[in-house]
Amino acid sequence: MLALPGMNILWNLVAEKLPDLVAKRDFLGAESNVHAVTGVNGQDLQKDAVIGVQNKEQCKEFGQNVAMTADALGRPLHDLRISLLDRCNFRCPYCMPETEFHADYEFLKRSQKLTHAEILQVVRVATELGVSKIRLTGGEPLLDKKIVDLVAGIAAIAAVEDLAMTTNGMLLAPVAQRLRDAGMHRVTISLDSIDPKIFKTMSGGRGDLGQVLAGIAAAEQAGFSSIKINVVVQRGVNDHAVLDVLRHFRGSGHIVRLIEFMDVGNRNGWRMDQVVPSQELLTAIQAQWPVTPVGRNYPGEVARRYQYADGQGEIGFISSVTKPFCGSCSRARLSADGVLYTCLFATQGTDLRQPIRNGASDDDLRDILSRIWLQRADRYSELRRPEVAEAHAQSKVEMYRIGG
Ligand code: GTP
Ligand code: 5AD
Ligand code: SF4
Ligand code: SF4
Repeated sequence: MLALPGMNILWNLVAEKLPDLVAKRDFLGAESNVHAVTGVNGQDLQKDAVIGVQNKEQCKEFGQNVAMTADALGRPLHDLRISLLDRCNFRCPYCMPETEFHADYEFLKRSQKLTHAEILQVVRVATELGVSKIRLTGGEPLLDKKIVDLVAGIAAIAAVEDLAMTTNGMLLAPVAQRLRDAGMHRVTISLDSIDPKIFKTMSGGRGDLGQVLAGIAAAEQAGFSSIKINVVVQRGVNDHAVLDVLRHFRGSGHIVRLIEFMDVGNRNGWRMDQVVPSQELLTAIQAQWPVTPVGRNYPGEVARRYQYADGQGEIGFISSVTKPFCGSCSRARLSADGVLYTCLFATQGTDLRQPIRNGASDDDLRDILSRIWLQRADRYSELRRPEVAEAHAQSKVEMYRIGG
């Protein structure tokens, strides 16, 4: 039988809940290539819920070649998105409206936030359960003055194959080279419009377009390639100026991704009529510049990719409202105060900070993480219906706490 840590934890959990099933372990045989045990309706692992195992072939489908933990719907744990802090230097109305996030708003105190050493412990343990992709987010991650050291620490963990960051780009220029030298692989910049006025409005009056563009140029200079530009499209706000963003970045090697405005958090007053379906944008783009679809870069990629027929590069659509992608969602999210969430729309998470500060060993932490993942059955975007949205109202985690 496999002697891999994640596997043993899974078996221990199954043994605890389902003693009679453990006998079946023999059925798997000594040479078994079983890599994970999966269940359905996994909120509370019940006898009937265990549906099977995940073998090497299934693991390969997800691009995994190590033992891993699969959730209740058979999805591996592959990405960890880490929010470094809840603060942001922007006040995008769809995320942190100024009216709520004013001068007196109480953000997390230093003691409430995970230290870098604590974050590194979570990353180390997560990689033992299959994580190979890390994304640093915020709030605005570049407000963390020691981010370069953290990047170096994460990059030094051998199992981390992809280390990326999502930033609004305002503070990127002076630090781009150091981030690159420390081992950051990729950067994604959120930039909702190339029109200075619209940009200003969408950043809550705080953003300076020139400074963000300088940040992108500095990133390029530092050696980052295929830089992604994330555009959240909101009807009546920036939808009429989307082609201008594409025109600006065509031929630059950067990849613009058009994101459907989502009902994340509880404060952005989301309404379905503010969502511009990707299909509508695609039709408008086709009329201007013909594009052809290209395959996914990796299993579970959230963007659907297209290439300009005239060779001027790639664009992407992130259509989580009209074409949800929960089926392949392999992302866990860690908030700045150490709560692990298994869905962007989660109403609750699991606190890791307390066990860590109580001295949890890597083994203890791995046990906690794998228990969380094993029971995960989230697929909010696929279930998005009025009654689900209703049940979630006022209780979802805020986007600025888990960074998208
Ligand atoms: P790559 O690794 O470059 O492919 O990046 P990514 O697309 O995984 O990450 P990015 O942070 O750029 O994601 C872009 C946007 O897609 C986010 O800001 C969210 O709006 C949305 N998104 C990312 N992950 C999820 C997810 O798990 N669920 C939903 N509903 N939306 C997501
Ligand atoms: N819908 C879609 N994307 C959002 N983002 C923030 N709020 C929303 C929302 N309501 C995006 C940001 C950034 C990433 C972190 O999340 O623009 O690209
Ligand atoms: Fe800040 Fe990004 Fe939220 Fe805008 S969307 S307020 S840049 S965290
Ligand atoms: Fe994953 Fe939740 Fe987004 Fe679905 S809604 S893709 S489960 S984060």
